[in-house]
Amino acid sequence: MLASAGMKWDETREDGAHPWLVLADTLLQREALVCRLGEGLLPHDFAGLYIGHDEVDRILAELPGLAGPPAERVAELLGRLEPEVVLARKQFAESLAAERSDFDRLVRGIGLNELDAQVLALLAAVERSPHRMRLVSYLQDNVQLPRLTIASLARIVQYGARRVAPDSPLRRAELIEVGPEGPWATRMCHPAVRVTWALGGDDSADPGLPPGTRMIDSPDNTNQPAELFLVAGADTDSRLAAVRDRWPHKALLVCPLPGSPAEWTAVVREAGIGDRAVVLELAAPLDRASADRVERATHLSWVLSSAHELALDTLPGRPWREVRLESGLADATDWATALGVAPDPAYPLTREQLRLVASASGGNPDALSTGVRRLAGGHLEGLAVRIRPQRTMTDLVLPPDQTNQLHELIARYRGRSVVYQEWGFSPLPSTGVVALFSGPSGTGKTLAAEIVAGQLGLDLYKVDLSAVVSKYIGETEKNLERIFGAASAGDLVLFFDEADALFGKRSEVSDAHDRYANIEVAYLLQRLETYQGLVVMATNLQRNIDDAFLRRISVAVDFEPPDEPQRRLIWEHSFPPGAPVGELDFDFLARQFKVTGGIIRNAALGAAFLAADVDASVTMERVALSLKREFQKLGRLRTESEFGHYFALVNGDGNAELAR
Ligand SMILES: Nc1ncnc2c1ncn2[C@@H]1O[C@H](COP(=O)(O)OP(=O)(O)OP(=O)(O)O)[C@@H](O)[C@H]1O
Ligand SMILES: [Mg+2]
Repeated sequence: MLASAGMKWDETREDGAHPWLVLADTLLQREALVCRLGEGLLPHDFAGLYIGHDEVDRILAELPGLAGPPAERVAELLGRLEPEVVLARKQFAESLAAERSDFDRLVRGIGLNELDAQVLALLAAVERSPHRMRLVSYLQDNVQLPRLTIASLARIVQYGARRVAPDSPLRRAELIEVGPEGPWATRMCHPAVRVTWALGGDDSADPGLPPGTRMIDSPDNTNQPAELFLVAGADTDSRLAAVRDRWPHKALLVCPLPGSPAEWTAVVREAGIGDRAVVLELAAPLDRASADRVERATHLSWVLSSAHELALDTLPGRPWREVRLESGLADATDWATALGVAPDPAYPLTREQLRLVASASGGNPDALSTGVRRLAGGHLEGLAVRIRPQRTMTDLVLPPDQTNQLHELIARYRGRSVVYQEWGFSPLPSTGVVALFSGPSGTGKTLAAEIVAGQLGLDLYKVDLSAVVSKYIGETEKNLERIFGAASAGDLVLFFDEADALFGKRSEVSDAHDRYANIEVAYLLQRLETYQGLVVMATNLQRNIDDAFLRRISVAVDFEPPDEPQRRLIWEHSFPPGAPVGELDFDFLARQFKVTGGIIRNAALGAAFLAADVDASVTMERVALSLKREFQKLGRLRTESEFGHYFALVNGDGNAELAR
């Protein structure tokens, strides 16, 4: 008999008594005896490096190779060892049923049968002991095979090879690995490192898990039948709360969709080891490969958690149950718990947003608005530019009708809670407000958006379309989702400048913009329907906007080039009180030059720089020369009928005159 005392050097005293280790040792001992003593062949020197005549003779006599040593001698040995093996198996089964050790709990949690458990016990026992590895090399007659091969497993455990096949429960649970190379029979099998750690009592999470994975423990975690559960709608926190409602005692592993096969493996293994249900937070529809992964890990409970309902054909082929959450808005109880105050109607926050804001403001309700601003700001970085509104309605010169429309827009956004909540009008499709500003360049669309935001006390976020629109499939939607998601706290105005780049007609695929218009437009339309905030879109060409969009627009304002009285007002507004202004003939400027507010502003600014350069005041000559520059930029003719007696100045080499 082999001395067993020396083999347990690595186990603590308690470990040494574990039935799974006892069984593993008993089986290994028997195999070693059968293989070697039963054949009367002791391992020769250079085992595995050298093949002797005796061995070849024996193999030739015994093909097929897995047959093992002669039957009579083996039968005699087995008879002698049988009582020991029977006892070890019995104790092993009892221990499993009683879930005494980490090993037993792992086997039960994953739902392995007894033979799978034996294979796992053997591999895990070998893995943690160099002495057992020597024994394995010995019984496999090869120093280069210190772990059990598929062939050895087939001899030691009933159907041992099948238990490590790719579709076996052990492999589906990612508990064991089989060497990727070499002949099938001599591929070595071993437990995943994480399994060895877990059996040694260490709970460190797998380092290969997707970034952002969270563990939610449960003191009374219960083993339950595996289920597939779909949760759609609202925000992540509300969806998680729905999962807790359904499985109050289940430990959870919450993570984003794994991005690589290695991450999937880590998730499946970690969930199995910790007996956790996996909550996948989906930002996009499930792809086929991911659905297959979920389908394959039948021993686990899965939750697919997503903001929008998942399409049926993307779901894994397993029976499922589903809940749909209508609103993720934090209620009075949530607000009281988080900040100790009643809900603030100015901030329709979801549970998740409320939690983030509360932690950022340290639970201080006075810091609420700062917290909410940061909530949106960080996520919009790189996709939108924040504009802190400075100017007011008096800075904007428009015909009365357009000015009224802007006031109506402001009123519409402000009055939402009265009209929809108090009066009970149904918000179709959502309580959000979408405004469209159209008109030629320089007519004040951006200025108007800034002023509307300022009147509402909100920041204006100008979406950088060149950063949002991506040529990669799905990226634009992802960026838009990030923008709308971040903005949905309702504390800002989303401003899509030059919106026709994105919202162009869906049917025509004529100009460069349309290459991305089609898919994204469908997404954007759908997203606008659920967005609760204020969106302003600006375009130079109204007729280029898709009809489906026009239906979704609550307020449309047409911006036109200013008429003479309006131009006069804009000229007057263009020089701040602190500027050194000489005699300026605003009547002349307004009457002669049929230009937009944008050009007026640029001309005034240019004249101011000409004056500052020579430390003089702004004169008509400087304004005329600055206008000349603006006209040059636009490639516009300068006529005597416009410039009048400044014509010679702007066309000739009259600059010297200005130095005075
Ligand atoms: N109607 C107006 N009243 C007062 N100022 C105006 C008006 N229109 C333009 N301006 C001035 O011109 C500047 C530029 O206008 P703004 O950027 O708002 O034009 P826009 O319509 O957004 O042009 P674009 O289509 O090129 O983006 C404003 O900041 C403002 O100083
Ligand atoms: Mg603009």
